[in-house]
Amino acid sequence: MPVHLLDHPLAAHIMTHLRDVTTKPATFRTLAYQLSLLLAIDATRDLQTEEKRIDTPLESMTGRVLTHQPLVVVPILRAGLGMVQPFLDAFPDVSVGYLGLERDHATGVARNYYCKLPLLPGRRVFLVDPMLATGGSAVQALDVAKQHGATNLKLVCIVAAPEGVAEVEKHHPGTAIHTAAVDRTLNAKKYIVPGLGDFGDRLFGTGTLEN
Ligand code: PRP
Ligand code: URA
Repeated sequence: MPVHLLDHPLAAHIMTHLRDVTTKPATFRTLAYQLSLLLAIDATRDLQTEEKRIDTPLESMTGRVLTHQPLVVVPILRAGLGMVQPFLDAFPDVSVGYLGLERDHATGVARNYYCKLPLLPGRRVFLVDPMLATGGSAVQALDVAKQHGATNLKLVCIVAAPEGVAEVEKHHPGTAIHTAAVDRTLNAKKYIVPGLGDFGDRLFGTGTLEN
């Protein structure tokens, strides 16, 4: 099953406030950070660890620490920027790449306008984009990451539509998708419903909210 649904009471609580139309950008950014941190933790639950011998103040013991393994987080601009800091805070050595994709509001088709990626071969790559709607942007992002040699890829999003999940599975079968919600469907303008509106606009305070 490629969809890993974040199932936690705190995640549900944060998600409800994130969706709320009265939530203003400053609070929205805080909530996006908190939810993305929970997602980052969930999406990295299969990281390798190794034994480490230590002394507590009372006795010696064998604990576990993360095995050195290069991680890369790639936000899909712009909205994905709201999900980067939690990865940096949890994994200080993570490398960051950037991929700029923007949906045409009439067609819903994404245009690639920027790409700056670190080395991807052999690294665990987390593509972060809060909204998986038609899946067009995610499929393009996965295409680009694979063209740059990525083989170990996960998609981390906040809200997914069933249509987007199906599109990713069709073009990149088996790709793990970590999300905090799978909503009902897309509306005529290809926005997720019930969704939370335009994530980038709400994150950066640029919205007209007429979707
Ligand atoms: C949003 C979102 C995804 C994309 C999802 O970005 O952040 O990248 O739409 O839609 P899709 O699954 O139908 O491709 P948008 O293009 O609005 O750009 P922005 O991040 O600059 O606001
Ligand atoms: N992008 C968004 O920001 N929201 C949606 O509902 C769909 C795409």
